[in-house]
Amino acid sequence: MTSTFTIAIDGPAGAGKGTLARRLADHYRLNLLDTGLTYRAVAYALIQYALPLDNVSAAETAARQVDLAKLDRTVLSAHAVGEAASKIAVFPTVRRILVEKQRDFARTPPGAVLDGRDIGTVVCPEADIKLYVTASAEVRARRRLAEIESIGGTANFAEILADIVRRDERDMGRADSPLMPAADAHLLDTSEMAIEAAFLAAMAIVDDVLARRNKA
Ligand code: C5P
Repeated sequence: MTSTFTIAIDGPAGAGKGTLARRLADHYRLNLLDTGLTYRAVAYALIQYALPLDNVSAAETAARQVDLAKLDRTVLSAHAVGEAASKIAVFPTVRRILVEKQRDFARTPPGAVLDGRDIGTVVCPEADIKLYVTASAEVRARRRLAEIESIGGTANFAEILADIVRRDERDMGRADSPLMPAADAHLLDTSEMAIEAAFLAAMAIVDDVLARRNKA
C-alpha cells in the first residue's frame, strides 16, 4: 500500500454502507470515518440549543466545533437527528467546514475508509477505490423495520418507507454535493445481497487494485 490509501463509499441511507465500511477498514487496517456523524453532530448541537435548523451561522459555528475524535454514535444515531442532519447538509458553508475536516482525516496515514454521500465526488475525488452502495427503498425500509423490531421497538413500514424516500429526495436533489455515484465508482446493489456478499465483492475490487499496483 502507498503511504495513504483511501476507500470512498457513498450511497443512500440504509444501503449497508456503514457495515461495509467497518468491515473494509478492519480488514485493510485503515482508519474509519462515518461522515454522516459529522452532519449529525451539527444538527444535534442546534437541537440541543433549541435553534432552528435553518440558522446557517449557528450551524457554521457548530460545524467548526465538530471534533472527529469525539463523535458519539449512541447519541447521534437517533432517527430525528438523521432527519435534521439532512436539513443542515444543504448549506454549502457548513459542508465546506466539515469537508475540510474529513479531508484531513483521509490524509492521515495509513489512510481511511470514509462513508457518506459525497466522498467519491467531492471529499476524496482522488480516492484509490470508490464504491457506490445502493438498495431499493423497499429493501432499505424492510431492513430498518427489522432493526427496530430486533431491539423490541415497533414501527410502521409505510411511514419508514416514506421517510426514506423523502431523505433520498433531499440528499439527491440538493444543489451542493448531491448524492450520486462518481463516474469511476463501482456500483454495489445490496437489494438481493447479504452484507457478507457485498463485503466479498468489495474486497475483490480492492484486492484487484492492490495487485495491479504491486505489479506496476
Ligand atoms: O449517513 P447518515 O444517515 O448518518 O447521514 C445523515 C445525513 O447527513 C444524510 O441524510 C445527508 O443529508 C447528510 N450527509 C451528507 N454528506 C455526507 C454524509 C451525510 O450530506 N458525506
